[in-house]
Amino acid sequence: MTGGAGYIGSHSVLALMEAGYDPIVLDDFSNSSKESISGIKKIYGAGPVVIEGDTGNSSLLMDIFSSYDVNSVLHFSGLKSVEESMADPLRYYSENVGSSLSLLRTMQEANIQTIIFSSSATVYDPESQVPYTENSPTNPINPYGHTKLCVEQILHGLASSNPEWKVGILRYFNPVGAHPSGHIGEDPKQKPNNLMPLVMQTAVGRMEKLLIYGDDYDTPDGTCIRDYIHVLDLARGHLSALTYLERHQGLHIWNLGTGKGTSVQELIDKAREVTGAVINTEITFRRLGDSPEAVADPKKAKSELSWHPEYSIGNMCADHWNWQRQNPDGYQ
Ligand code: UFG
Repeated sequence: MTGGAGYIGSHSVLALMEAGYDPIVLDDFSNSSKESISGIKKIYGAGPVVIEGDTGNSSLLMDIFSSYDVNSVLHFSGLKSVEESMADPLRYYSENVGSSLSLLRTMQEANIQTIIFSSSATVYDPESQVPYTENSPTNPINPYGHTKLCVEQILHGLASSNPEWKVGILRYFNPVGAHPSGHIGEDPKQKPNNLMPLVMQTAVGRMEKLLIYGDDYDTPDGTCIRDYIHVLDLARGHLSALTYLERHQGLHIWNLGTGKGTSVQELIDKAREVTGAVINTEITFRRLGDSPEAVADPKKAKSELSWHPEYSIGNMCADHWNWQRQNPDGYQ
């Protein structure tokens, strides 16, 4: 599991361990913390094998592949800030596309042909009609989204070149929440850009007020609508995809979202209700590149993977808040 110490990675490592797998985590800890591994140990009673290093380091990968009996790779590692990707696109192409290429080449050499790739709803054309199905047109509007689509296309090429490959592409919508124990959660190293961590940091008093980027969209309350998904549901999606790939060859794409839209204002109202905290807000200008609405059609994942998201927006806020309150400065 590349990037297995990160936010989504750590919750997925836990889900796999709970299902009886023996994951090996490869992480360079550039945007994650070793404390997430300690958190997994606290919850599960044991941790995964952890190797510190870079996904793009093919000799290290080859060492891992020859030292352990590796059947599949879950590829989480990569940079994930839309803003940063616009300021430094080459770094994003090099880290996200370059490292993935090197990983795939080494997998091919080692004859490991099962991969699950962390893609994103950001690959969809923001002008497409919602909800997005896996066949909706793609047209990412920032370098981060391009890097995700690029890797998807590389995977398409690979799967067509050799039918033995088993490829699962998971397009995440907006992951939020944390393990209810509060031992693992989201801990952005830089100031977060995403709504839920900002809402919770405002609730816990780390930020004075939350800026709402526009209340004049063509939506019922004028604020943007997103499909928030609990990270535990997302983690379980990886397990379902892995089980599916054990029985099916070829390339498969699945949206991981709930199919339910929540507006920025609704999320803030729910967070106020769940936390009981004061969350000051201020309406400001629209953020460049935001689409009014992004919601998944999760039917394909539901029918093919028998995967059903279980958590409500209230659960997502409660678990994110529990993590934030127990760890006001993240893993630090
Ligand atoms: N928002 C605010 N104020 C803030 C931060 C966000 O009003 O301080 C609004 C945004 O304008 C947007 C909504 O909250 O309408 C959600 O914004 P996020 O930044 O949390 O999420 P995005 O949908 O913009 O993007 C996220 C990830 C991407 C991912 C994408 C998938 O950041 O990496 O979801 O749809 F690809």
